[in-house]
Amino acid sequence: MKILVIGVSSQTSVGYLLAQHLKDHEFIFASRSGKLGEACDVTNNEAVAALIFRIKPDVVIHAAGFYREETLGNIQDWQAASSNVLAKAFGALVVLNEAVKNAVPIVIFFGGKMEHADPLFAPFVVGNGAMLVAVRFAAEHSSVQAYYLEMGLIIGSSMGKLIQGRGQGVHDEEVHIETLAQVVQGIISGSYANGSQIVLY
Ligand SMILES: NC(=O)c1ccc[n+]([C@@H]2O[C@H](COP(=O)([O-])OP(=O)(O)OC[C@H]3O[C@@H](n4cnc5c(N)ncnc54)[C@H](OP(=O)(O)O)[C@@H]3O)[C@@H](O)[C@H]2O)c1
Repeated sequence: MKILVIGVSSQTSVGYLLAQHLKDHEFIFASRSGKLGEACDVTNNEAVAALIFRIKPDVVIHAAGFYREETLGNIQDWQAASSNVLAKAFGALVVLNEAVKNAVPIVIFFGGKMEHADPLFAPFVVGNGAMLVAVRFAAEHSSVQAYYLEMGLIIGSSMGKLIQGRGQGVHDEEVHIETLAQVVQGIISGSYANGSQIVLY
């Protein structure tokens, strides 16, 4: 299968780690900067349309839009925070829309919890909730099979290292990358119902 992951720009991005565990598939990485592959802003529908049309993936994974180190759990850069919300919330609609138009069979969203004890995680929570709404709607009203992955902290990932490194008491449940790889393979093999919210912790 050809899997396009939008939201991979480092070797500690979850999408990159996933690819190391699903060697039977061909992975194409994209991100806003294009550091590890294609440059594509997930909120730009023309850019997403062009990328999906050119790559013709069997699966699109939306993994875009988490906080940078300077903002996670300690928002000082509100513009960065709002752009991350947009990447998840609006970007989810852009990806689904272009997937429908280009007959992509499967779209997977990398999300997380939809509630949190720390109010500084509110933008994260909002983005995740919007993704889940998009998944439910797509499953019921479109030709695309859509899945929401509610992930805890992926061990070894950028976000996992960041939160663990801070030690400020925000400790979500940890998830091994092997677990994520099994779930993604399960989706591809048809083991989950269309529209599933799959909790990984
Ligand atoms: N890691 C975890 O433990 C964990 C847990 C729960 C949920 N998640 C979710 O999984 C996803 C991936 O997380 P990660 O840890 O792999 O983070 P990451 O390595 O920081 O990756 C986030 C990616 O999003 C890209 N991005 C941001 N805005 C974008 C936009 N408008 N258009 C295109 N790309 C954009 C960034 O690209 P540039 O660097 O090029 O700007 C970066 O490649 C996130 O949605 C996160 O919320 C992760």
